[in-house]
Order: sequence, then structure tokens, then C-alpha cells
Amino acid sequence: MNILVTGGAGYIGSHTCIALLEAGHSVIIADNLCNSKREMIGKIMDIADKEVTFYEIDVSSAEAVNIIFENYKVDGIIHFAGLKAVGESVEKPLNYYYNNIVSTMVLAKVCQKYGVNRLVFSSSATVYGNNKVPFVETMDLLPTTNPYGETKAISERILTDIAIANPAYSVSLLRYFNPVGAHESGLIGEAPNGIPNNLMPYVTQVAKGKLEKLRIFGNDYPTVDGTGVRDYIHVVDLAEGHVAALENLTEGVHVYNLGTGKGTSVLELVKAFEEANAIEVPYEIVDRRPGDIASCYADASKAKRELGWTAKRDLLSMCRDAWQFEKKYKE
Ligand code: NAD
Ligand code: UFG
Repeated sequence: MNILVTGGAGYIGSHTCIALLEAGHSVIIADNLCNSKREMIGKIMDIADKEVTFYEIDVSSAEAVNIIFENYKVDGIIHFAGLKAVGESVEKPLNYYYNNIVSTMVLAKVCQKYGVNRLVFSSSATVYGNNKVPFVETMDLLPTTNPYGETKAISERILTDIAIANPAYSVSLLRYFNPVGAHESGLIGEAPNGIPNNLMPYVTQVAKGKLEKLRIFGNDYPTVDGTGVRDYIHVVDLAEGHVAALENLTEGVHVYNLGTGKGTSVLELVKAFEEANAIEVPYEIVDRRPGDIASCYADASKAKRELGWTAKRDLLSMCRDAWQFEKKYKE
């Protein structure tokens, strides 16, 4: 199939482009590079040893997106493009609502115009809010604590309503848990701008000596050791989940958790990282981070049952691959 991958130069998108190419699909990337670099396109082609087509465009512009559909027969879309920094979304809500929701609506509209019925959307476990773990797809969504999370819940709603009104549509809403790690080549991985917000890139930068020590946000949660629990998933497993979702799309709207189903605390992750890489990660315990929940992990059984997909890579390989990328990475 010819797949349009919006946000394909980003962290999850780039790994997914490789998985798509390896599965025999053709890839067209649309990315405005607001949070990624052009060199990523070359790296994707090098790793997969295949060509991709690249459009440097903003996918919230219908005019720009139309050009792709005029030039190519697109069979399906995987829509990753979006802004994703939770803290920034609180400071600049309009940027987040505009970018993330308008781009979803533009793509849905272009799909209608050109008769493209297959759409896979990047959602997030954040839409479960403070539900009881493990999170199951059938749970009512609870309000999230930030505009970023709201853009995911609203986009899910928009795509669901469109698919209900157009029975030929096949839409997959993928709720990711915590993607970490990097491609085994060490050539691509997560390279956030500035000081990282997320745990794994913070840990790798401490290990590298770029940051002095990790600050662990709270050790008084009702969890195994008091630190926050999350469901870390290797980004290559996540990428393969997208190929499975695309290849198994059927009419209607389908929601899938993409996680491992296993919760890991911050201290357990630090320990695993030290063990996997034989390197020390100094840390201190500080106050809880506002907006954080105690535990977040998936019931991942639906994706296994319906897509035949399950995460294969363990925590040690996530830590090894994240570190291998950080060591090689030059800004
Ligand atoms: P990323 O920032 O690395 O990738 C997003 C890409 O989209 C970037 O290359 C950026 O330049 C591009 N982009 C943003 N707005 C655009 C626009 N209007 N037009 C064209 N390109 C645009 O982020 P990621 O971690 O790869 O996340 C991909 C998707 O998955 C996002 O929608 C994100 O919200 C979602 N998600 C990520 C996580 C996570 O922890 N990384 C968790 C849950 C969901
Ligand atoms: N943490 C620290 N120190 C840090 C960074 C994080 O202790 O420097 C802790 C957090 O308190 C939390 C855990 O590590 O307990 C994971 O935090 P992350 O920031 O890595 O990830 P979150 O679970 O907060 O959020 C991520 C994405 C969201 C997405 C969500 C889905 O950032 O966009 O996963 O589960 F919505």
C-alpha cells in the first residue's frame, strides 16, 4: 500500500516508516520539521535501504495536503503529526488545539475528497485520565489535566463521529503508553530539544554527563516503591503495532492500547538502565510533578487478540537501545 505518514520525521513516525518499508509498503512523509530534522529522511532510507517521498508541509493546511493527493494514489494515512509537550500545552493552549485538531480535521476532509478510507491515529494513554489500572479500551475516558491530552480525546471523538457517519471508513485509534528506546542501529532515536521532560531521555543524558542527576518526582505514591509506575514500550514494538493495525483495518472505528501490559516504577527503570549498560545514574528524590498520576499501564489483550500484535522487547533492550543511541547522537 501507499501510506501517507504525517509526522514521519519524528520519533515514533521515523521508526514506523522503517517498519512499513520493511513490510513492503511505500511511504510518503509529510512533516513540517517543527520538532524534527530533515536528515531523518536520509537516515530512514539508509536503514531500510529503500526510497521514501518527502513533503515539507504543515498538515493543518488543506491546500498543502491536497497537493500530495493530486500527485499520489494514497491507500491509507498514519497520522502522527502533532505537538506533544504537556507543559508547553498548558502555556500555549491555542497552538496545541489549533495544530493538533485542525490537522486531524484537514486530513479527514482530504480523505473524504479523495475516497481514502483507511486512517490510523496516534492517540495516548493520557485519555484514560485517572482511571483504575490496567486501562482497558472500553473504559469511559476521564478528563485529562492538560490541553495536549484534550486534543487527543477531541481528535478521537472527531474521527469516531466521521466513521459512524461514513460506514466505509476504517479507523484505528492507537493509545500509546510510554514509548522509549531506539532503533537497534543506534542511528535514530529520541532527541528532544532542550532539557528533556520525559524520563528515559533524561536518564540517558544523566548517564552521558550532560545533566548532573535525575530528579525523581515523588516517592510517596501508592506503588511498589512509592515512585510512579508506567508501561514502557520499545519504540520498534510500537512501530510494528502500527503496521499490524494498518494491515488488519476493517470498517468502523477500532481502539487499541499499544503497551506491554507491565508496569515499571521509576526506580525499577533506573536500576534496569544501570544493569543493562553497566553505568551509574545518580538521582535525588524531589516533590511530585503536578499533573502526574501514580500508575498507568495497559490491558494489552485486545491488540493481541484482534491484530495478532504483542510487544516483544523487554525493559533491558529498551535501556540498551536508548543508551546506544544517546552515545552516538551528536546535536
Ligand atoms: P515527535 O515530535 O518526535 O514527532 C511529531 C512530528 O510531527 C515531528 O516530526 C513534527 O515536526 C511533526 N509535526 C507537528 N505538527 C505538524 C504539522 N502541523 N504539520 C506537519 N508536521 C507536524 O513526537 P512523537 O513522540 O514521535 O509522537 C508522535 C505522535 O504520537 C504525536 O501525535 C504524539 O502526540 C503521539 N504520542 C506520543 C507519545 C510519546 O510519549 N512520545 C505518547 C503518546 C502519544
Ligand atoms: N519522571 C521523573 N523524573 C523525570 C521525568 C519523569 O521522576 O525527570 C517520572 C514521572 O513522574 C513519571 C514517569 O517518570 O512517574 C514517566 O514520566 P514521563 O514524563 O516520561 O511520561 P508520562 O507518563 O508523564 O507521559 C508520557 C508522555 C505523554 C503521554 C503519556 C501516555 O509524555 O505525552 O506518556 O502515557 F500522554
